[in-house]
Amino acid sequence: HSTISNWQLKNRRVFLRVDLNVPLAGGKIINDFRLRSILPTLNLLCEKEATIIMGTHIGRPHAVDRLLSTEVLARWFNANGYQVTVESDLEKVPAKSHGTSQDILLLENLRFYPGEKKHDIAFAHQLKELADYYVNDAFALLHRSDTSITLLPELFEPDKRSIGHLVEYELKHLYPLKEHPAHPYLLIMGGGKVADKIPLLMQFINKVSTIAICPALVFTFLKAKGYEVGKSLVDNTQLRTVSDFITHAEEKKVRLLFPQDILIADKSLTGRLSVCPADQIPSDAFGISIGPKSEKALISEINNAETILFNAAMGFFDRPETLEPTKHLLNALVNASGFSLIGGGESAAAAHLFKLAYGINYISTGGGATLAYLSGSDMPGLDIFR
Ligand code: 3PG
Repeated sequence: HSTISNWQLKNRRVFLRVDLNVPLAGGKIINDFRLRSILPTLNLLCEKEATIIMGTHIGRPHAVDRLLSTEVLARWFNANGYQVTVESDLEKVPAKSHGTSQDILLLENLRFYPGEKKHDIAFAHQLKELADYYVNDAFALLHRSDTSITLLPELFEPDKRSIGHLVEYELKHLYPLKEHPAHPYLLIMGGGKVADKIPLLMQFINKVSTIAICPALVFTFLKAKGYEVGKSLVDNTQLRTVSDFITHAEEKKVRLLFPQDILIADKSLTGRLSVCPADQIPSDAFGISIGPKSEKALISEINNAETILFNAAMGFFDRPETLEPTKHLLNALVNASGFSLIGGGESAAAAHLFKLAYGINYISTGGGATLAYLSGSDMPGLDIFR
């Protein structure tokens, strides 16, 4: 439970770790779901007149990258009635509360600092200096061991650290689905972070009835099966693991569904679109999404499932026609009689874009974190609060 309500925070400094890793295209926020979702915590801290120092990552930068600056987030807050300024120099964060001012300080992308991904205690101490209290409302990052998620809260006294309202809300809604999901349970999994997804899929084997493997994830599977995948996204380091996973799923009698046909772009990602059989992707084509036959088959699976977990936004937001199959699947989720659940920034963004979010039973702000939690994997960011 969040304990923020019990705290006296007037003139106290609070470090608020959030996950505002929002989907961006052309420097613009495509979907502000993660931003809106932290407002209950932010509003409570403002009401309590706390001095707020907010930190997030965006993307996976290894050094300073102007395109991943938190300035874009500050602009969103300012447009929505919050006074937020970005501070990239930790030395310049005031050592004391700035009293009556309601300015919220947003740190520059935490992953611009090498210590954030290196489990670096010196960096944790540097962040600790900035605040008297710590709040973790970064639900979407609880499956990671980033310094500000794991080491930093340990430096605060137990009565001066807490989860935020978003984390509490997510856990409340996801817990029953983790413990007692209704079967048949269909997992529709796609996306690009292949190396992250395979261990999660391994865990899900013990939980679900059927797994539909979708683009872009599926191209590593197709390659492992010996098919030509053209220029589609493949993680060559995972071919062996993928084969082991397929064997394991067969042993455990979990059905694996692969697309029969693929939507491809000719020669480049902006090339002409067409559909080909999944085992006949031309050598110069990019696989983008599933084709109509696969779509039909998957919609019938959705209709027969009692629980449907969707983490498979396919296509590109800056090329809307490539998002059509995703839209059709989301529409099926809305019409499904089973419990529909979306995890993943881009999947949630697609549901909002097509105005289908209203019909989904639950949309989580987490992607990998939601999958990790539901599959029963470790959640390092939660350990300290258990
Ligand atoms: C997400 O978008 O799933 C989270 O922000 C985690 O990002 P990461 O996979 O780069 O750690």
